[in-house]
Amino acid sequence: MAESDRFVKRSHTCGALRAGDAGKEIQLAGWVAGRRDHGGVIFIDLRDREGMTQVVFNPALQPQVAEVAHTLRSEFVVAVTGKVALRPEGTKNPSLGTGEIEVGATGLTILNPSETPPFPLDEEGVNEDLRLRYRYLDLRRPAMAEALRARHRAALAIRRCLDQQGFLEIETPILFKSTPEGAREYLVPSRLNPGKFYALPQSPQQFKQLLMVAGAEKYFQIARCFRDEDLRADRQPEFTQIDVEMSFITREDIYAVIERLVKTVWHEVRGVEIRTPFPRVTFAEAMNTFGTDKPDRRYGLTLTDFTETFRNSSFKVFQTAVAAGGVVKAFNAKGLAEITTGQIEELTNLAKAHGAKGLAWIKVEGGEWKSPIVKFFSEAEKKALTERLAAAEGDLILFGADAWTAACEVLGLVRIRCAEYLEKLGKLKRDPAHLDFHWVVDFPLLRKDPEHPNLVASHHPFTAPVEEDLPLLDREPAKVRGQHYDLVLNGVELGGGSIRIHRSEVQDQLFRKILKLPGEVVTSRFGYMVEALKFGAPPHGGIALGFDRLMALLLGHESIRDVIAFPKNARGQDVMSGAPAEATARQLKEVHVKPETGPGA
Ligand code: AMO
Ligand code: AMP
Repeated sequence: MAESDRFVKRSHTCGALRAGDAGKEIQLAGWVAGRRDHGGVIFIDLRDREGMTQVVFNPALQPQVAEVAHTLRSEFVVAVTGKVALRPEGTKNPSLGTGEIEVGATGLTILNPSETPPFPLDEEGVNEDLRLRYRYLDLRRPAMAEALRARHRAALAIRRCLDQQGFLEIETPILFKSTPEGAREYLVPSRLNPGKFYALPQSPQQFKQLLMVAGAEKYFQIARCFRDEDLRADRQPEFTQIDVEMSFITREDIYAVIERLVKTVWHEVRGVEIRTPFPRVTFAEAMNTFGTDKPDRRYGLTLTDFTETFRNSSFKVFQTAVAAGGVVKAFNAKGLAEITTGQIEELTNLAKAHGAKGLAWIKVEGGEWKSPIVKFFSEAEKKALTERLAAAEGDLILFGADAWTAACEVLGLVRIRCAEYLEKLGKLKRDPAHLDFHWVVDFPLLRKDPEHPNLVASHHPFTAPVEEDLPLLDREPAKVRGQHYDLVLNGVELGGGSIRIHRSEVQDQLFRKILKLPGEVVTSRFGYMVEALKFGAPPHGGIALGFDRLMALLLGHESIRDVIAFPKNARGQDVMSGAPAEATARQLKEVHVKPETGPGA
């Protein structure tokens, strides 16, 4: 047996010892988080998952042990034997659980040395690719270790809470077929079935519905989902959903289950009490007031409609937008007249990147309106703006004139950016402790999509129309509301779901007549779903919460990457292993794939 394999097992973790343990002989094991040399006396901070303990090596008492301690470097993994002592007065550390004691070492074994870490583990702001390249070191940092632990606790709380309400956790396949959640899919070639592919599921949507047909009644799963989308701070190519489906229920039942779940998680992981039931906001209200279907309602800067004010305006930009059936909306970025020219340009580019032709603005400064467009405004128009926006000295007013959805969405984005500017100026606060959970409801069942000639499902095509809107389905499908709901917290869509279509003829009608999918596509892609609904499918509905997003919000992290053990970077790569990587010509041949370029092309 090698020398370092023989070590005394630890008696305590590095977070356990307290003043009451003084005098005990103990053994610890962990990583060297820091080493200080005070005139020959060596102090190390020994760290493990549970905490940090100060260990002292005194050459006057233990010369040989202290000599070995001199060779310790950051992240060496060691075993220490010693005696617990109270720290001398004035050297206690109240911010550390073990801050009242230290361990006087009598023995030391280096279990394994470490190369110098590529970044200091106690530093903030380290380049993220470097952290991901050495994720196993990054995860040793207490904040990251805490995120993993909290995620575990949350998962347990979720399972317990749903179990108590009669839900069964049921696993569903990963190798599957196309699922219509709207994103691009990952394809997996089949070796045994030449020329055929599995698709990785974007969610377990069809399976959970089939489980309802199967009589499971209450299903849940902490499910891995895969979507080949452009990545952002709150999106990963593989992510986790808390996926739920129930039979014989209405929307209200789903709200109640999820409110109880969210309450339990915040209580058990953070000790925070959340008020339920959550308020409800219609999609139309959310868009009209905040310019988004996932509003951050912790601050104002709400949008006001000025369509009628500018219907006959001599300012042609607004007048033509209204004449074309569009709207004019505006909001007062209160106190932001000190915005810089560069920032105005940034806002304009943001608006243009989302399809706006421009971004009109007015600064109220020095008692006058400074703006390239004010000269076109009549007195009545100015009066309406002043009154309805409560425009005062120091304000900035921003306008959107476009089709309703576009005008709302563009101003919604501009509103968020203005809040960021105002927050930097100390004029606005988005308090992370203010948890504004709410349901957004009454979404349109269908929406226009620039890439599609026909209407597409705004959630997914299994969502049931609101009962009383059913007669409109043939005549005015765009006006039909879906039984779809989103759970929103502080500007983040935490989850979404719907009551499903449970009658095969309605599902078939939606696919063929409304979404205008060709018959053979319906049969090949969804034939089994339409068929299953013919065998006594119960009324059912469900929801999925983004578990990664929930954890990030629960712990106050900006990015979901900080609550995932091994996330991909923004380019979808695992920078540690180098995935995705080339496949060999032989591997490709086995799965019957011809590369476009390179060997075998
Ligand atoms: P939806 O597509 O709205 O619904 O997804 C539900 C929730 O999953 C989270 N989410 C993501 N999290 C991280 N990275 C991603 N790429 C990502 N995409 C989505 C979000 C979102 O609210 N089957 C339906 C649910 C249902 O109808 O029951 C579904 O998947 O928090
Ligand atoms: P223009 O006449 O195109 O130079 O536009 C005059 C002002 O109106 C500029 O400040 C533009 O940025 C702004 N503007 C143009 N189109 C729109 C629009 N659709 N919504 C809001 N502002 C616009």
